[in-house]
Amino acid sequence: NRYFAIVPAAGSGSRMGAERPKQYLPLAGRPLIWHALATLCAVPEVERVVVVISAEDEWWVAHDWSCFDGRLQVLRAGGATRAETVRNALRELGDDLAPEDWVLVHDAARACLARHHVEVLLETLADDPVGGLLAQPVADTLKRSDETGRVQQTVSRESMWQAQTPQMFRAGLLIRALDEKPGVTDEAGAVEACGLAPKLVPADATNFKVTYPQDLALAELILHSRSF
Ligand code: C5P
Repeated sequence: NRYFAIVPAAGSGSRMGAERPKQYLPLAGRPLIWHALATLCAVPEVERVVVVISAEDEWWVAHDWSCFDGRLQVLRAGGATRAETVRNALRELGDDLAPEDWVLVHDAARACLARHHVEVLLETLADDPVGGLLAQPVADTLKRSDETGRVQQTVSRESMWQAQTPQMFRAGLLIRALDEKPGVTDEAGAVEACGLAPKLVPADATNFKVTYPQDLALAELILHSRSF
């Protein structure tokens, strides 16, 4: 098995309301995206980590990435949506990828990804016919609202999961799924739309997506707690 990681980092991070894209906000002394790249590069099975930034990105070159040696590849191939960014990267990698190679797609914004969870994902899916993703069972009671913000219905949380990343599929399947079903918010969604059932691999809440300003302090706490 060969493993490649793709890290889409071409979003604008508008919900953060910051002066720079959120992947470059300072977090525990590094640009936010650094942390996920460090974790993926620390997994020996992962042959190459491919970061996908937007063509206009001015921030990447302002930082020093030399600590990642030759493991990191940068593509200026951002698309209008996350799925398009991933599709562009797969296209640019072309013949470097064999159809049976595994591709792990990971959000740059999930800065607290733990190496342990990547290893569990690789182990669990090594012989899987479909692939799968890290995810967490929903703990809160779920409510569906009407347009006025009043509860319409309580939705059972049984069997409900929050999808995380990395999402891991074989390159051939992922390319076909994203070509056929481009309007998805994650890779698993495209694979599901092709009639397949990705495997949910339990992770935990530390692998959350840094989205709002208040998320930065929590991410920093988690990262610091690991360095002791
Ligand atoms: O916006 P959201 O937090 O869902 O983005 C998830 C990930 O996808 C982020 O790492 C973001 O940079 C990336 N993305 C991208 N290209 C886009 C939109 C988002 O690479 N057009």
